[in-house]
Amino acid sequence: MKPHPALTKHYNDLDSKQAFLRKVFDDSAKHYEGIARWGWFNSGDRYRREALKRAGLAQDMKIIDVGAGTGQTARAAAEIVGSPGLVTVVEPSRGMLEESKKQLDSEHIQAMANNIPVPDNAYDFLTMGFALRHVDDLDTAFKEYFRVLKPGGKVLIMDVTLPSGKISYFMTKLYFKYILPFLTRIFTGSAAAKYLMSYYWETMEQMVDSDLVIKSLKDSGFKAVKEKIHLGVFSEYEAIK
Ligand SMILES: C[S@@+](CC[C@H](N)C(=O)[O-])C[C@H]1O[C@@H](n2cnc3c(N)ncnc32)[C@H](O)[C@@H]1O
Repeated sequence: MKPHPALTKHYNDLDSKQAFLRKVFDDSAKHYEGIARWGWFNSGDRYRREALKRAGLAQDMKIIDVGAGTGQTARAAAEIVGSPGLVTVVEPSRGMLEESKKQLDSEHIQAMANNIPVPDNAYDFLTMGFALRHVDDLDTAFKEYFRVLKPGGKVLIMDVTLPSGKISYFMTKLYFKYILPFLTRIFTGSAAAKYLMSYYWETMEQMVDSDLVIKSLKDSGFKAVKEKIHLGVFSEYEAIK
């Protein structure tokens, strides 16, 4: 199951998607942390901490964060589990990974969601924050998540979901399609970062429905699969191995 169809305005076909993503995230890496902060009205760190706690992350758990970007979710996790030594950061973009290393003294691994070079049954918890749309294939990624979690281990996938109401959809589109890319250009001075934020909206618009994400988690072996919607726009998918 592909998270969204090929976005041929940006790359030729799905075989080119990962190379495209490496380039756009590498090119924007040094701006990303700032955009993730002000672009979400400084609420992102708190939201991540609360979502992790809601899902049951607790002191001393061993956790792996996939699609970690510059490490926002991984840092929130380190605070909760009590030590960066309990956190493994997985991120395919070299630029994003280097930015994360500056702020978190954890193991950092350059890898994609579908092929994580860690042993089987190794983690109590796996998180993916706002990166699901970037994986090549949901089933392959979720089977890999299942492999690396201990029996009874939990996965939490945070994502943005588009609101169903007409007015809230319009406001969300206005912000992510036009305002955020425009402000990104102004505040960062980077055309590459602006381009990434415009691309971000397209992936939101084209993302498969949540029932297909839930089906893929179940087909990959997970139990107790559920989606919680928070504040109307945040999806939190939880599942247990
Ligand atoms: C929006 S950032 C997410 C940052 C962070 N997780 C957070 O909580 O905000 C999306 C990240 O997904 C990464 N990514 C792209 N393709 C991926 C793949 N196939 N597997 C895992 N991560 C991928 C990108 O390099 C990027 O750093």
